Amino acid sequence: MTQIRIDAAKPGPTINPNIYGHFSEHLGRCIYEGIWVGEDSPIPNVRGIRTDVVEALRALKLPVLRWPGGCFADEYHWKDGIGPRDQRPSMMNTHWGRVVENNHFGTHEFLDFCEMIDTDAYVCGNVGSGSPQEMMEWVDYMTSDGASPMPELRRKNGREKPWKLPYFGVGNESWGCGGNMRPEFYADLYRQFNTFVKEYSGNRIYRIACGANTNDVKWTDVMMERVGRRMHGLSLHYYTLLNQKWPPSGSATEFGNEEYVSLLASALHMDEILKMHIEVMDKHDPEKHVGLIVDEWGTWQAKEPGSHEGFLYQQNAVRDALVAAVHFHIFHNHADRVKMANIAQLINVLQAVILTDGARMLRTPTYWVFEMYKGHHGATALSASLNAPTVEAGPWKVPALSVSASKAADGTYTVTVANLDPAAAQAVEIYLDGAELKTATARVLSGASPQDHNTFDAPDRVSPKPLAVTLAGAKHLSLSVPAHSVVAIHCG
Ligand code: AHR
Repeated sequence: MTQIRIDAAKPGPTINPNIYGHFSEHLGRCIYEGIWVGEDSPIPNVRGIRTDVVEALRALKLPVLRWPGGCFADEYHWKDGIGPRDQRPSMMNTHWGRVVENNHFGTHEFLDFCEMIDTDAYVCGNVGSGSPQEMMEWVDYMTSDGASPMPELRRKNGREKPWKLPYFGVGNESWGCGGNMRPEFYADLYRQFNTFVKEYSGNRIYRIACGANTNDVKWTDVMMERVGRRMHGLSLHYYTLLNQKWPPSGSATEFGNEEYVSLLASALHMDEILKMHIEVMDKHDPEKHVGLIVDEWGTWQAKEPGSHEGFLYQQNAVRDALVAAVHFHIFHNHADRVKMANIAQLINVLQAVILTDGARMLRTPTYWVFEMYKGHHGATALSASLNAPTVEAGPWKVPALSVSASKAADGTYTVTVANLDPAAAQAVEIYLDGAELKTATARVLSGASPQDHNTFDAPDRVSPKPLAVTLAGAKHLSLSVPAHSVVAIHCG
C-alpha cells in the first residue's frame, strides 16, 4: 500500500491551461486528411475542415494550437497559402517525404479551424528562409484592422475582421532544420525579426523565441543573456525516445518489458531536462518573467510498417497514455516556469491524439489523458509526496506511481495517478491535508496490456471507465490503481 500526502492547504503556482497545448505541422497526414479534406470531399466537413475532428477536439477544450511547423515553418512562405485555392502555387515539402504541398490549407484555413475548435492560435514564423519584411506583413495581414495593403488584401480574400493572434514564434529549431545557427547568431536574428513583429488594432502578442534542443543549456544561457525580456517565452524541444537514443526506434504497439520501462524512463527524463534549463533561466531571470515553452514533446518511435517514409505515422498505445500522464505531472511541478507545452502532433503524426483512415477517425489513449486531465486546466498546483515502489527492467528503473493534484477555482480537487507497473495494481491511500471532502468519483484509462490500443475496427477499446474510490474520511481517499493505468479523481 502506498500513502500519498497532498498538501491542500498550501497552494502552489497556477497550472497554465496552455500546458495542454497542441502542435500541427504540414507533415504527413496531420493537416491534409487529418484536418483538411476540402469542401468537395464526401467526408463531412465545414468549409473543408472535418466535422468529426472538430467535434472530438472541442471536447478537449484545446487551449492553444501551434502551426505550421516544425521544420516546415522555416520553408513556408505564407503568401503562397492565401487567395483562391486553385491559383495557389505548389511547393515540395523537402523535410517531410518530399511530397507536393498544394497550399490549400493556409492562414485563413488555419485560423478558421482555430475558431471552430475554440482554441488560441500560435503561429510560427519563418526565420530560416524568410525575411523580416515577410514576417512583418504576415502579422499585419492577420491582425490589423487598418486601411493598409495587408489588411486590404485579407479583406479581398474574404475575411473582413482581423483575427486574434495571441502567440507568435520567431523561427523553429534554428540550431537545426531552421538554419543550423549558433545561439549567438540566432539571438541577434531574433532581436532583428522580433522588432518587426508589430502589434496592431489591440492585438497583444506573446513572443516565443526558438529555444534549446534537449540538454543544450548553452543555447538557453545565450538567449537569456542576449535576448532576455525581449522574448516572453523561450522554447524547448525534448522527445521521448527508446533508450533515449536518436534516431527513433521501437514500435508503438509491439514491445517487451525492457522497452516498456525504457520509454517511460525517457519520458520521466523530461524532469531533469526542465531542471537544467530552469536553473539557467533562474540565474538570469529569478523573477520568472520569461516562460519556458515546451513546444514539442511526446513519443517518437519508428514509423508504422507500411506507412509513408517521412510521414512519422505511429500507433498509440496504453504506454503512450502513461507517457502523457507523467509529462503533465512534471509540467505541473514546474508550473511557475513552464507556461505552455505542445504535444507533437495533433493528428496522424507522432504521439497523436487522433488517427484517421479515410472517413474513419479514432481517439487514441493519449487523447483520453488530455480529456481526463481537464480539471487541472488553470487550477492551483498542490504538492504531493509519496514513497512508491520501483519498476525495473535491464538498466532502466522508474517509480511505479506518478501523482499530481490541483485545486480549481470552484474549490474542487483533481488528483491524477499513473501506475507505471506493467503487471501489478497499486493500493493507494490519499490524504488531502486541509481538505473537507464530501464526494469523490474516479475514472480509469487502461487496457488488457500496455500494448493495447484503439483500431479503426475497435475505436473505443481503450477509453475511460468508472473506477471505485472510497471516501474513507473528510481528507482521506482509498482506491486500487490497476496495472499500467491512468486514474483521474475528482473530489470536493
Ligand atoms: O515534430 C516533428 C519535427 O521534430 C519538427 O518538425 C521539428 O521541429 C522537430 O525536429
